[in-house]
Amino acid sequence: MGAETPVDDLTEAEARKELARLAALLAAANRAYHADDAPQISDAEYDALKRRNSAIEARWPDLKRADSASEQIGAAPADGFAKVAHEMRMLSLGNAFSDDEVREFDQRVRKYLGLDGDQALLFTAEPKIDGLSLSLRYERGELVQAATRGDGAVGENVTANARTISDIPTRLRGAPDLLEVRGEVYMSHADFQALNERQAARGGKTFANPRNAAAGSLRQLDPTITQNRPLRFFAYAWGALSAPLAQTQMGAIERLGALGFQTNPLTTLCRGPDEMIATYKRIEAARATLGYDIDGVVYKVNDLELQRRLGFRSTTPRWAIAHKFAAELAWTRLEAIDIQVGRTGALSPVARLLPVTVGGVVVSNATLHNEDYIAGRDANGNPIREGRDIRVGDWVQVYRAGDVIPKIADVDLSRRPDDAVPYVFPTRCPECGSDAVREEGDAVRRCTGGMICPAQAVEKLKHFVSRAAFDIDGLGAKQVEQFYKDGWIREPADIFTLKERFGTGLQQLKNREGWGERSAAKLFEAIDASRRVGLNRLIFALGIRHVGESASALLAAHYQSWQAFEHAMTHAAPGEGEAWEELIGIDGIGAVMARSLLNAFAQEAERASIDRLVAHLDIQEATPRGDVQSPVAGKTLVFTGTLEKMTRAEAKARAEALGAKVSGSVSGKTDLLVAGPGAGSKAKKAADLGVEVIDEDAWIELIGAI
Ligand code: IVH
Repeated sequence: MGAETPVDDLTEAEARKELARLAALLAAANRAYHADDAPQISDAEYDALKRRNSAIEARWPDLKRADSASEQIGAAPADGFAKVAHEMRMLSLGNAFSDDEVREFDQRVRKYLGLDGDQALLFTAEPKIDGLSLSLRYERGELVQAATRGDGAVGENVTANARTISDIPTRLRGAPDLLEVRGEVYMSHADFQALNERQAARGGKTFANPRNAAAGSLRQLDPTITQNRPLRFFAYAWGALSAPLAQTQMGAIERLGALGFQTNPLTTLCRGPDEMIATYKRIEAARATLGYDIDGVVYKVNDLELQRRLGFRSTTPRWAIAHKFAAELAWTRLEAIDIQVGRTGALSPVARLLPVTVGGVVVSNATLHNEDYIAGRDANGNPIREGRDIRVGDWVQVYRAGDVIPKIADVDLSRRPDDAVPYVFPTRCPECGSDAVREEGDAVRRCTGGMICPAQAVEKLKHFVSRAAFDIDGLGAKQVEQFYKDGWIREPADIFTLKERFGTGLQQLKNREGWGERSAAKLFEAIDASRRVGLNRLIFALGIRHVGESASALLAAHYQSWQAFEHAMTHAAPGEGEAWEELIGIDGIGAVMARSLLNAFAQEAERASIDRLVAHLDIQEATPRGDVQSPVAGKTLVFTGTLEKMTRAEAKARAEALGAKVSGSVSGKTDLLVAGPGAGSKAKKAADLGVEVIDEDAWIELIGAI
């Protein structure tokens, strides 16, 4: 690729832009992949985006966006299946793309656990199956529920379908009373081909690749269809359990095998990175002959006690990583460049391509990022692709890595048509005609139309009704788009006056395609129910730039009531004063986000629209964060000095998992200082401030063992 500015060369302003761009790309990619089962870019491409995102976040932790893709997994359940809350979240995996990154993974794990280089640390290595994950719940040996991953917390109940898969036992002998088995549903190459031939023969839908075929087959509302689709299942993990399966990963896999599950025969125990990499090479060499798709190798710490200690980051375990296979490329013709306008007005160029198969997926769209990218330069004006610009009519190299939005990596000048002209990026919004301006230091050109721009208004509305926001049953992206077109809903507040404005017009709705008496009544009921909304959801739903789901939760937990939040947003002055200090003092809220919040509340039109909305709502106050069961919940802790029984990272992660906030410095807000040997100025300051100080043993006792 090499077309992007290396992360190390980015300025802070560019990094911020880049994170915004990556967030948009990744969100679209996630939707296409998880919700629509129609991936538009490859796994490798997706991973490349995600990896760049993480690399930038690692360098500028303060710029991490609340809607960062590193915090998100999967997408909301599709309509039609009952939702299932997973007792234990279904997680995703961090990625490694090179041998060095595998070695770094080993080092990270060792460092976290405080292991020396000469202490043994075993890992399992196994193929990463390219299917979709499924959680099977057995109670007293009976299969009682099967659920897809969904967004990790809530999936779809596909029990009836799972029962038709012959690799999935419906009854187990000798299993713990409660056992959730997790693994991958997939389709073999041979079965995929036969299915597509059958489908084509009877004029049905054919699938782009085995993964899509597996997903489409499992997520059939009619289980008799699933029954006729040859799905398979490999077990590789577990969720809730009433008794441990074994002491090691390998032991647990063997136990799952003994219980009647298919486990992957290539699973290998490795003594460190050399053996892991050797196993990766062996599995990669076998890839073409396996008869099913794999997209990498997963390494897991073998000792389950160490897995427990390592625990999880927000969406990925610290004890496992996926070592992905390299990306795939193809050449095709660029037929047109379209401009899409997003919720915040960003104009994003999309390449329309002569459809081409890249790694099993037919690609007809790809991102072109921004105008500089098309022109062959980066945000600093330095050449990318050695300065080659991209023109309509060009032959371009499409790149898929990971599995979502494809990207144009390069252009073949030798095949450029004589009449190809440089692309001129629009300076007016193609949707509303308003000026599209590019602010200094911003790689993105934005429409200045605000809510008068139909594209922005619709995207804002879509965001408003999305799962993490108002999540109104019966009012999804499609309906919002339709209602906007019909002039029924122009801004969020309109949703709540829909029923009264309709009056007898209810008839209008009922007469529309897709709407009947019951669905219309249900919609109004769902709208009414959604008036009662948590403060965090409301803040997120406002769709303020940079303010994602987790930042909204932080803001809600901090201000607790709408009145307090609104007061702060109205009275804080950007960059100065107490209210500003308080806002940016919230752990996880940076200056960029804070400015964006204040800016939204200072815009007259936006503010008025917020006020109109709030008048219809019953906003629930937030409770402070934390697990009430834990003695440190809601407290602010500081660690100082040397910890001997757990590393600093582990102590911090444990404290956070118990609902505490960990800060780097002692202040009046500190509740507890955990001081190991060598504690210096922090211990003194704590003493001066009258903050409670405990040693490591007391800390371990407080949280209940290691
Ligand atoms: S372990 C806590 N092992 O990859 C980690 N996942 O990118 C649980 N996957 O959601 C996952 N093969 O759907 C694991 N051998 C394997 C896998 C595997 C495929 C999928 C799984 C997961 C995704 C993460």
